[in-house]
Amino acid sequence: PGARDLAGRHVVVSAGGTREPLDPVRYLGNRSSGKQGYALARTAVARGARVTLVAANTALADPAGADVVRVGTAAQLREAVLKAAGDADVVVMAAAVADFRPADYAAAKIKKKDGEEPPPLALVRNPDILAELSADRPRGGQLVVGFAAETDDVLAHGRAKLARKGCDLLVVNEVGEHMAFGREDNEAVVLGADGSQTPVPFGPKEALADTVWDLVAARLPAAAAA
Ligand code: C5P
Repeated sequence: PGARDLAGRHVVVSAGGTREPLDPVRYLGNRSSGKQGYALARTAVARGARVTLVAANTALADPAGADVVRVGTAAQLREAVLKAAGDADVVVMAAAVADFRPADYAAAKIKKKDGEEPPPLALVRNPDILAELSADRPRGGQLVVGFAAETDDVLAHGRAKLARKGCDLLVVNEVGEHMAFGREDNEAVVLGADGSQTPVPFGPKEALADTVWDLVAARLPAAAAA
């Protein structure tokens, strides 16, 4: 693959983790640092792409050369990704999107009251953005890539998830207390809807990002003549 093999392409990457508010000071969140998504954005810029990075609650500096859209909740992330996806060649959903959000938002801070039971926490489902993008393909022929963090039976769960979501590639990695989240290194397997299986050895998140772009570049339809 050439160094500028994504020139002329618009890629959308989501990164970080959504926060679903309970009240003005509390939220349900996750441990995603955003590092893998940022590595994808940086490497795509280096390979010549126009990059839109939709970043949810990350503490990382904006990567040079990318358009960064900052979001908080899954609903905001969905809106930003769908908007950018309209003319994108590829969408990579590296963000950890909350599957559930609190059913109710309390406009004032929830108080504890002596002698009362803790309030119940009712949740509702968030829309699955990856599945929606895969089904709708806002721009015809675009590629959709997902990530899956699994704690066990990584390949079997990954294959099932790839089929369920309907995306073209699924990057599967094993997570646990001391793995992946917030770390500089990652180890993964990239599963393709075409049956391909590409192991990526433990190494920097940039290396995994470049492998994803190699697989994407090989699957992109030829660019229309300028
Ligand atoms: O189902 P699961 O959360 O394991 O799937 C992970 C993949 O799906 C990631 O690519 C994530 O960005 C995406 N996802 C999504 N919308 C959700 C939940 C996950 O797009 N509500």
